[in-house]
Amino acid sequence: PYVIAAPCIDVMDKSCVEECPVDCIYEGERKLYINPKECIDCGACEPACPVEAISQDRRVAPEHTDFVEDNRRFFVEV
Ligand code: SF4
Ligand code: F3S
Repeated sequence: PYVIAAPCIDVMDKSCVEECPVDCIYEGERKLYINPKECIDCGACEPACPVEAISQDRRVAPEHTDFVEDNRRFFVEV
């Protein structure tokens, strides 16, 4: 699945939400989260983000790998 990392924090542009064909991008308090169980890996959200916060989980930059787990945890809690 795709993952939203740190650049989204307090930016929350939400252009990604409109691009997602399966509506799997959810709003948290300070950033948005992609539900890994619903994401179909289409990639439509990635170019929509003006701050390049979105990438595929296996391509997440090393400094942002924590967000893969953070993203998963968000959906366990809701
Ligand atoms: Fe939605 Fe596609 Fe982005 Fe997954 S990759 S969050 S399905 S737009
Ligand atoms: Fe965040 Fe970028 Fe979407 S800033 S809300 S991931 S368009």
